[in-house]
Amino acid sequence: MERAAPLGVFDSGLGGLTVVRALRERLPSESIVYLGDNARVPYGTRSRETVIRYALGCARELEQRGVKGIVVACNTVSSVALEVLRAELDLPITGVILPGARAATNAAGEAPIGVLGTLGTISSGAYTRAVASFSSRSEVLGQPAPLLVALAEEGWTEGEVPRLVVRRYLSAFFGPEEIPGLPRASKVGCVVLGCTHFPLFRELIESELYEIGGRGIPVVDSAAETALDVEAVLEARGLATTGRERGELTLLVTDMPKSFESVATRFLGEQVPGVEQVDLRSA
Ligand code: DGL
Repeated sequence: MERAAPLGVFDSGLGGLTVVRALRERLPSESIVYLGDNARVPYGTRSRETVIRYALGCARELEQRGVKGIVVACNTVSSVALEVLRAELDLPITGVILPGARAATNAAGEAPIGVLGTLGTISSGAYTRAVASFSSRSEVLGQPAPLLVALAEEGWTEGEVPRLVVRRYLSAFFGPEEIPGLPRASKVGCVVLGCTHFPLFRELIESELYEIGGRGIPVVDSAAETALDVEAVLEARGLATTGRERGELTLLVTDMPKSFESVATRFLGEQVPGVEQVDLRSA
């Protein structure tokens, strides 16, 4: 496999672009082909079998485009399909759960870890297992937050509606309101953004955690930590690019390239190139 080949990255939609952003910060010379399967978003409410089938379709599309490794920039897929992808494809595959769990274990110390994710991610127990691999003391409290995926895909990340939704979900990480108007006791030492769509709500989540508990609670995003893992995998396999130019970015979607392009600029924090529509049905 060529060092100059691009990395493949995929998610159900826009969310994985938060991982692309971290990869481009950490590994600026690597070229990236990103695939957002927005024709079939959300993945988080679907069965394990369906998520595995969709994930294989995405991974094979990227493989056909000659990528040197695949980053699964989706917690839902990383929760249920990593082993199948590794068995089916002859490429290094990196997920986002282990890096997120590692960062959370460091941030929470011995306190329980709160995880906001899709229904699929939370019910899979993947974070509980991943955290247990780093610490025998950290307990995981999972809260499904599926509405945030829909709001992110809409680009509706500010204002009263997302604020109320975020508040309702975060409530699970606090004890009861003992005295009306006073802060509630936190049950967790940090909150993991266990879905790659959720970093878009990071500021809102941080401010609502403060509002409810009366103090700041660390919020953990796995993107930067995942970029470190990808760097280590590329180095270990002799696949890191030797180029010095900024790597190319190719964006593929399965539907609605124009609307993806406009929201993607905000996710990536850089002007995006044109977005190409692909059909995965043959994959
Ligand atoms: N962004 C994905 C994740 O990290 C999936 C969201 C969805 O499609 O439900 O889980």
